[in-house]
Amino acid sequence: MKIVSKKRDLVNLLKPCWKGPDKIGLVPTMGALHQGHLSLILKALQENSCVLVSIFVNPTQFNDSEDLNNYPRKNSEDLAILKDLLRQEDIVFIPEEAEMYPERDMRRFDFGHLDKIMEGAHRPGHFNGVAQIVSKLFDLIKPDFAYFGEKDLQQLIILKKLTDITGSNTTIISCPIIRDNDGLAMSSRNQLLSKTERKEATNISQALFDAAKLKKQLSPIKLRESIINRINSNPELEVEYFEIVDGFELKPVSSWESSPLIYGCIAVKLGSIRLIDNYKLVNKKD
Ligand code: PAF
Repeated sequence: MKIVSKKRDLVNLLKPCWKGPDKIGLVPTMGALHQGHLSLILKALQENSCVLVSIFVNPTQFNDSEDLNNYPRKNSEDLAILKDLLRQEDIVFIPEEAEMYPERDMRRFDFGHLDKIMEGAHRPGHFNGVAQIVSKLFDLIKPDFAYFGEKDLQQLIILKKLTDITGSNTTIISCPIIRDNDGLAMSSRNQLLSKTERKEATNISQALFDAAKLKKQLSPIKLRESIINRINSNPELEVEYFEIVDGFELKPVSSWESSPLIYGCIAVKLGSIRLIDNYKLVNKKD
C-alpha cells in the first residue's frame, strides 16, 4: 500500500486510475479502526481495483471541542492493520488539518428535515461538517464507490442526499452494522469506555433487540416510551433520544404500517461517552 498525506501526491497516484477502466473505492474514516471499518474495506477490496482509505479526524463535524480532543487517535496501529489488509496498489490518505482546510470552509448544505432531528438536533452543525469533508474527499478522489456503515444511518441517508445536491458521480454503498459478540455495535468510541461502562453498554443493543419483539404488542409511541424508561432505569445510562422512524425520510412513525422500512434509532450517554445504534423494526422491502 502507498501512504500519502498531501493532496498533490494523492492526485499523482490516482491519475492512471482515472484514465483506465479501474474502479476506485473510497472508505472515509476517522481512524481508530475496528471490525466495522474492516468490513467496509473488505467490501471495497472485492469491488474495486484501487481502494483508498482516508484517516482524518475532521474538526468541522465536532460541535464540542472536548469530544474532538478526546476522540481516539491511533495512526500507527491503524497503519499496521491496513498494511496486512491492503494491496500494493491501494492507498492510505492521512492529511493534516491544513491540507484539508487551507481556509475556513464556509459552505452550508441544505438537507431539509434530515439534519434537524436525532443526531442533527443534538449535535448542531455536525452533518454540515461531515458533508464538508466528504464532498472535499469526493471532489479530490472522484471515487466510483464510497463505503459507509449503517450504524450511522442518518449520516448515510444525508450523504446520499449530498450526492444529489452536488451532482456527484460517486455511488454510496451502505454496509451492515458489525456487532461484538454481546450485541454492542462496533464504534471507535467503544475504546473510550471503562470496563464497567463497556458492560453496561450492552443494555443499549439488548433494548433494541427486545424492541423488535415488543412491537407485536405495542404501538410505536408506546414502544418508544417503554424503551426510554427501561434504559433510563439504569443509573449509568441516559437516553438522549430514541426515535422510531421510517428508513427513507427519517420521519417518526405512528403505526407499524406507515412504512415498509422502520428503524429504532438511539443515542445514549454513558458518563461522558455518547453511543449511537439503530435496529430495523420493520423490513418489508426484502
Ligand atoms: O463516519 C465517520 O467516521 C465520519 O463521519 C466520516 C464519514 C469519515 C467523515 O469524517
